[in-house]
Amino acid sequence: MQLEAKKLSYRYGCYPWLFREVDFTLSPGEVVGLLGPSGSGKTTLCRILAGYVKPAEGRVLLGGKPITRKGYQPVQLVFQHPEKALNPRWRMRKVLKEAEVEDSILEALGIQSEWLSHFPGELSGGELQRFCVARALGKGTRFLIADEMTTMLDAITQAQIWNAVLNAQKQREMGIVVVSHEEKLVARLCDRVMRLSR
Ligand SMILES: Nc1ncnc2c1ncn2[C@@H]1O[C@H](COP(=O)(O)OP(=O)(O)OP(=O)(O)O)[C@@H](O)[C@H]1O
Ligand SMILES: [Mg+2]
Repeated sequence: MQLEAKKLSYRYGCYPWLFREVDFTLSPGEVVGLLGPSGSGKTTLCRILAGYVKPAEGRVLLGGKPITRKGYQPVQLVFQHPEKALNPRWRMRKVLKEAEVEDSILEALGIQSEWLSHFPGELSGGELQRFCVARALGKGTRFLIADEMTTMLDAITQAQIWNAVLNAQKQREMGIVVVSHEEKLVARLCDRVMRLSR
């Protein structure tokens, strides 16, 4: 199963085109970087690839079929700001229960059992992001789109999270898109790189 973008174009309302006719294919086991200056449309492209936003032109196919956000979700998106991605009224235990995450993933991400009874507002940014990553690594995930997933975190936390993700990636042959402004991180993690320009 591949994640394919065919001739994607996007603009917000009548603003200028952000990108035109982007073609992109992500195969199982591949780690691809997505670079580009701020405002070039990386986050917008991530949302389109994950099926949250419809492109103005072109299409996204998953295993040859148009992507949808209904039912089983093989494509998962992780954002830079975990506090915006979590329901403030759900305890972390409930967040994980929905996603069916294996204990080994929680352990690799350094998630402590006492955090499970907390609400999002009671955890630090780094702790919350571990939950967002865990939630995105449920057992059905085949493709992960990491939109500046560790940008706000210290180097040790960043390394721990990426180790956990890359272990899962190898075990399950997941495909990953890595969005980052850190060229070094992208060079270290990625098999190839795609660039958006302004
Ligand atoms: N809802 C919206 N309506 C109009 N313009 C928008 C909207 N959302 C984003 N934009 C604009 O679209 C452009 C691309 O935004 P996007 O968030 O995709 O960029 P990005 O490459 O992810 O930037 P960054 O590196 O800063 O995260 C920006 O100029 C932004 O201001
Ligand atoms: Mg962005």
